[in-house]
Amino acid sequence: MDDFQRIYGPWALVTGASSGIGRAVSHELAARKLNLVVVSRRQRLLDTLKKELEHRYGIEVRTLGIDLTKPGAIEEIDRSTQDIIIGLVVPAAGVAEAAEFTGTTLARHTGMAHLNMIVPMQLIHVFANKMAKRKRGGVLLVSSLFGYQGIPYVANYAATKAYVLTLGEALHFELKKHGIDVSVLAPGLTDTDMPANLPLNFSKLPMFYQSPWKVARTGIRALGKKATVVSGLINKFYAWQNRLVPRSLPVSLFGFLIKRSFKTPAALRGGNT
Ligand SMILES: NC(=O)c1ccc[n+]([C@@H]2O[C@H](COP(=O)([O-])OP(=O)(O)OC[C@H]3O[C@@H](n4cnc5c(N)ncnc54)[C@H](OP(=O)(O)O)[C@@H]3O)[C@@H](O)[C@H]2O)c1
Repeated sequence: MDDFQRIYGPWALVTGASSGIGRAVSHELAARKLNLVVVSRRQRLLDTLKKELEHRYGIEVRTLGIDLTKPGAIEEIDRSTQDIIIGLVVPAAGVAEAAEFTGTTLARHTGMAHLNMIVPMQLIHVFANKMAKRKRGGVLLVSSLFGYQGIPYVANYAATKAYVLTLGEALHFELKKHGIDVSVLAPGLTDTDMPANLPLNFSKLPMFYQSPWKVARTGIRALGKKATVVSGLINKFYAWQNRLVPRSLPVSLFGFLIKRSFKTPAALRGGNT
């Protein structure tokens, strides 16, 4: 058994495992010989993932096809993992909305805030308590480069990612004494369903796609070493220089750039009537 397995094994819990970054993280962890509990709504995709991972890496995979925003979801995860030891939690499930703040329904704003902020916080609370008793474990949170400043037209999404960033930074310090490594991965634009489904033309923004595989590896490598890690050199530079300028500057710049990248004026106005 290597160090990674000893500290973060024998099981890892990954939410948002059916696609994108969560799916890539699941592959990377399976390659490091952790058994996995994979969570998302689309059971069929989780079943395919289970087959792939068990066949390719010889590990054990449990699937949980649930909507994490529904009441009782966290309790269900807790209940169905009572008989195994979860050494690593990766709450990667997330959604994004892009439109004028008032153009997105309150229900969608609230659902996004719940999935992106409340669910990771609750999962950390449940599993960090158990990890602390064993004096080892890890949490890999998924924030975003968008979490480094306010971003008009994706205001609530960016704010949820700022929450994840600061929660993780603080817990990196606080949980260290219990032997728990907390790191926050902040991806830039990543080639997944999330940006593909947004009504934005990303070619009009000064951003470059990274593969979810590269992003996943960057996050996993940061575990036990860094409080936060930004994926990609250009993104790293962006996050760094952001600290040197007045906060209002990147906010206005993003406001201008994002507004003009909407595919249609109707998309900018959103679906709230
Ligand atoms: N892609 C980017 O450019 C980018 C950049 C920065 C940060 N991120 C962050 O990376 C994380 C992963 O996003 P991604 O890019 O990989 O997007 P993605 O491919 O759309 O993956 C999102 C995942 O979340 C799951 N999910 C969504 N709603 C859920 C719910 N109510 N209950 C349970 N699972 C749910 C989805 O599965 P089901 O549909 O099967 O439920 C899916 O597995 C997110 O937290 C996102 O904010 C992405």
